[in-house]
This record gives sequence, structure tokens and C-alpha cells, in this order.
Amino acid sequence: TRPLKVALLGCGVVGSEVARIMTTHAHDLAARIGAPVELAGVAVRRPGRVREGVAPELVTTDASGLVQRADIDVVIEVIGGIEPARGLITTAFEHGASVVTANKALIAEDGASLHETAEKYGADLYYEAAAAAAIPLVRPLRESLAGDKVNRVLGIVNGTTNFILDRMDTAGTGYGEALDEATALGYAEADPTADVEGFDAAAKAAILAGIAFHTRVRLDDVHREGLTDVTSADIASAQRMGCTVKLLAICERAADGRSVSARVHPAMIPLSHPLASVREAYNAVFVEADAAGQLMFYGPGAGGAPTASAVLGDLVAACRNKVNGARGPGESAYAQLPVSPMGEV
Ligand code: HSE
Repeated sequence: TRPLKVALLGCGVVGSEVARIMTTHAHDLAARIGAPVELAGVAVRRPGRVREGVAPELVTTDASGLVQRADIDVVIEVIGGIEPARGLITTAFEHGASVVTANKALIAEDGASLHETAEKYGADLYYEAAAAAAIPLVRPLRESLAGDKVNRVLGIVNGTTNFILDRMDTAGTGYGEALDEATALGYAEADPTADVEGFDAAAKAAILAGIAFHTRVRLDDVHREGLTDVTSADIASAQRMGCTVKLLAICERAADGRSVSARVHPAMIPLSHPLASVREAYNAVFVEADAAGQLMFYGPGAGGAPTASAVLGDLVAACRNKVNGARGPGESAYAQLPVSPMGEV
């Protein structure tokens, strides 16, 4: 069978793990897909920074040239941010490639039009890694629960801020020091303002709400408060009340079903609640659905390898579709429901 060719855009914390796993698991991936899959090019901004293990002859600074190659089957985008990621993904679709992305900001901003472009060119768009890294959330909401009615998605969806709050709460570490540690561990975004000001969690809330409620929710629709105003004194007073502070994302369908809401803000959680015991950069999300009842998803929500795990799962799905001449689930927005940031009061 002809090998499937993959272009990797970005080779930082996540990209280098993707490249590593593609190499070490090549045999298993081929067996699962039904065809060998090979890395055909890795586009980076600064070639000198590419980590060991990536064949130097694959590295290019010409991302645009790479996505235009006729032999590329799947493009993996792990650059992040809106541009040039959006332009490159669009070009990839135009050249018939499917796309796997971890780009929360872009999917939250422009997921609908990217889905349309993918549809137009008969390609797939997968983004499991855009919400809570390794924790399966996008696929369960898009596929496993597609026959149910989801009413609420609530939880911790940002690893960096959970790590900071955990350090402040349990070790008395200062905010700045805890943020530096989260950055060194590869949890924080390239610009950690996205984490601490709640943009990253709000983007994930928009994505999850959109899929859960089959409507379109964008970043701007999400009420957002970050961590920057939470002080050590706030954490100490929460402790005195038998609570801890967590940054929550809350997405709800209104009781009458006619609108949805999505918000991100710090909240006091009683120590007896399962969310209170989510430590370090772990994430935990509750999903409530009519027939399924309450489900809890828990696991590493940030970091190179956990994010790469989600990317690789999507890569297998996109490649299988190529081999079988099949298509992925596509966009699930059937209705445009009004989005009120705070929900019913
Ligand atoms: N910066 C993000 C986080 C990475 O801390 O959760 C995973 O999306």
C-alpha cells in the first residue's frame, strides 16, 4: 500500500513529541491505519531549534510550500495562534489534505468557516487536542454522545492555571514562581497571558459548548475572568472555609432549550467536591446528558506528550478515512442558538 504522507507544522513542545511518537510507533500506527504513515516534512520558524530525533532533511522554513505539495495526505498544525495557522490550514484543504490541529484559539474563532472549507474540498478537520489535551472530550461529544442531549459541560480545562492554583494552595508558592514552573514544564502557552487571563479556557469552553449543544459559540461569546486577580489572601480565606479556588469553565443549555451560555471564572470549590482534588496540570470535566446522566473525564490537560497523544489519535482517524475513502464527522452545528455569557440568572 502507498504510504500516507504527513506534514507537520510546528516542532515545539507538542510537535517534537508528535514527531517522536510517529517514529517510535510507526509499526503500530501502520497496522491500525492499514497503510504506513510517514513524516514528509516539518515546517519550523527557526531550524536551529528543532530537537533531536527529527531528520534534518525533513525540516523546512517554507510552511506554505509544504502544505501545497500534492503528495501530502494529512497536515498536522501545532503552531498555534490565528495566522499563519489559518492560511496554512486553508491551503492544505485546497490541496486535498485533511487537517489535524491542536489550535484552540483558531477553532474557537473560526471553526465554522474551517469546517466549511474542509467540506468543500472533501477533507477532514480533527481537533481533539484543542480541548484538554489527552482527555477524550471532543470525540465523545461529537460522536459517542451524538444521540443524546447534552445539557451541561463543566470543569477545569486549563492545566497552567490549575497548576498555579495548586502550588499557591498546597505549597504557598507565589503566583509568579508557579507560573514560571508551569512554563518550564511545557504547560503554558507561548504567551502565558492566554492561560492566566482565561483566554485559553474560554476558547476551550467555546469549542466544547459548540459541539455539545450543536450550535456555534465563539470566543467572544464566552464571559471570561482569569486568574490575575486571585491573591494568596483569597486562597487563604477559601481554605478557612474548607474550600479551594479553581478556574472553572461552565457551558449550559437554558432550561427552555432556546439559548446556551458559556463562562470562565475562578470559583470556590468545597474540598469534598471531586474538582477540588484535581492537582497540578490535570483537567477534569463533567458532562451531563439526558440519557447518559453525569460523566466525568479526567486526566493530563496540558504538556507535550499528552497533547501529542490526542493529535496522534486524530491522525489515525484522518488516515483511516483516507485509506477507506470515508469522511470524519464534520461540523455538528445544526442551529444557531443565542449565546448569553452568564446564562439564566
Ligand atoms: N496552556 C494550555 C493549558 C495547554 O495550560 O491547559 C493545553 O491546552
